[in-house]
Amino acid sequence: CVLGLDIGTSGCKILAFSDTGEILQSVVEEYPCFTPREGWSEQNPEDWWNGVQAGLKKMIPMLGGKTISAVGFSGQMHGMVALDEHLQVVRRAILWNDQRTGKQCDEITEMAGGIDGLLSVTNNRMLTGYTGGKILWMKENEPENYSKTKVIMNPKDYIRFKLSGAIATDVSDASGTGLFNVKERRWATELIRKIGLNPDIFPKVVESTDAAGNVSREAAALTGIPEGTVVAGGGGDAVISTTGLGLIKPGRIGITLGTSGVAAMGLSAFLPNPNGMLQVFCGNAPGSYSAMGVTLSAAGAYQWFRNALGDYEMEKAKQSGKSAFRLLDEEAAAVPPGSDGLIFLPYLTGERAPINDPNAKGAFLGLTARHSKGHFARAVLEGVAFSLKQVYDLMMSGNMDIISDEIVLAGGGANSPLWRQIFADVFNLPVRTVYGSAEGGSFGAALAAGVTAGIWKNLEETVPLIKQESKTLPIPQNVPLYQEQYQKYIQFYGALKWSFS
Ligand code: XUL
Repeated sequence: CVLGLDIGTSGCKILAFSDTGEILQSVVEEYPCFTPREGWSEQNPEDWWNGVQAGLKKMIPMLGGKTISAVGFSGQMHGMVALDEHLQVVRRAILWNDQRTGKQCDEITEMAGGIDGLLSVTNNRMLTGYTGGKILWMKENEPENYSKTKVIMNPKDYIRFKLSGAIATDVSDASGTGLFNVKERRWATELIRKIGLNPDIFPKVVESTDAAGNVSREAAALTGIPEGTVVAGGGGDAVISTTGLGLIKPGRIGITLGTSGVAAMGLSAFLPNPNGMLQVFCGNAPGSYSAMGVTLSAAGAYQWFRNALGDYEMEKAKQSGKSAFRLLDEEAAAVPPGSDGLIFLPYLTGERAPINDPNAKGAFLGLTARHSKGHFARAVLEGVAFSLKQVYDLMMSGNMDIISDEIVLAGGGANSPLWRQIFADVFNLPVRTVYGSAEGGSFGAALAAGVTAGIWKNLEETVPLIKQESKTLPIPQNVPLYQEQYQKYIQFYGALKWSFS
């Protein structure tokens, strides 16, 4: 079998996948996220590593001695992990949903010769989420940490490093630094120099299906993965989740509901990114690309809502044997579609797409005395669907030959039948889930590792393994109601924008 490790934001997921294409086991370990200031978001890389070790200790004995032929990786993208000359972590990782780097992003854009200059090198804007602005922020605000830094990597790369000692990243995650020449699949060294960063701190780059190293003796003792097991290149979660849906070639859009919400599709050739409205990154198959738009709070918004209701909800969940999310779904399903006029803007950690506004804030609008907890829960699910509809519309307006006859839904949020129905109604399209949909990046990571191990010749060979699991059709009478609310939703941001900065 192969293992797929996903270093997510709410936790890590470890999945074991057989050589004949079945999910054998999957385990999740949660870890904390720190918000030391408004708009900041950080995690401790040691917490990821402890989570991975705990998960592997549970997982390996469940495999009954099956040979592990490779370990694959998926991870939250853009996070900055800085290591010193002893390969120790310099400071907490600054994450993809951190918004502190507006000034540095402007500086980088200016030094690159404006947006057009930047796009001509990286094919992407420098967004506040991306790693490039974070490194410059550290240089400007924590010079002692910057001068100690000898290596920069993304979150999943740190776990590969702990498992194998290999210092590497892959082309899809490298794209999300904003300092990568996506077209040529190499670091944008001239740009890195121009903005005053040291090009030597950027690691070696491999393709997602390449081998990047082998599990060390020390890591074998800590995790139970046999020494010498191949560790693969892997990919950024937004890209490799889409690969896990079988969407390697252009055509249909997949939507992944993790902490963030990603609408993405595969591209078989490089695509220029006019105005940088989308994210166009290297894909997981050698020579392939991926186009996407990312809303920052998707299942993360529902998780925030669950947490805001406090321990009481969790206690109730424990007693009923259902998860707190499914209990909330039951209350949300009991109120009518449209939540009796309550509309939620999901901009809890600023927003990237469809609007690029690091200062955007969340809001409930249309509140009246008749609204109950179930209305709030439903409005959160609906607001996230509206946000992804806006991202989808943005992708449709590009020149990408999208086949718009269904959407494929994935990530933890795709487990909710109610949310699937809301997506079908808001998009007025059938919503499909496929085998592995709910596993998010760990599934794509396992498929890519299977290619590294030689079980499958290439990623295209894995596509027939990804069979349909559910199909949800739109309910015709809900469609016009949601269309009307969607229009209001879009206008609310415009009306409130002045109050956010
Ligand atoms: C992708 C992105 C998010 C993170 C979170 O561009 O920012 O999807 O990768 O997992």
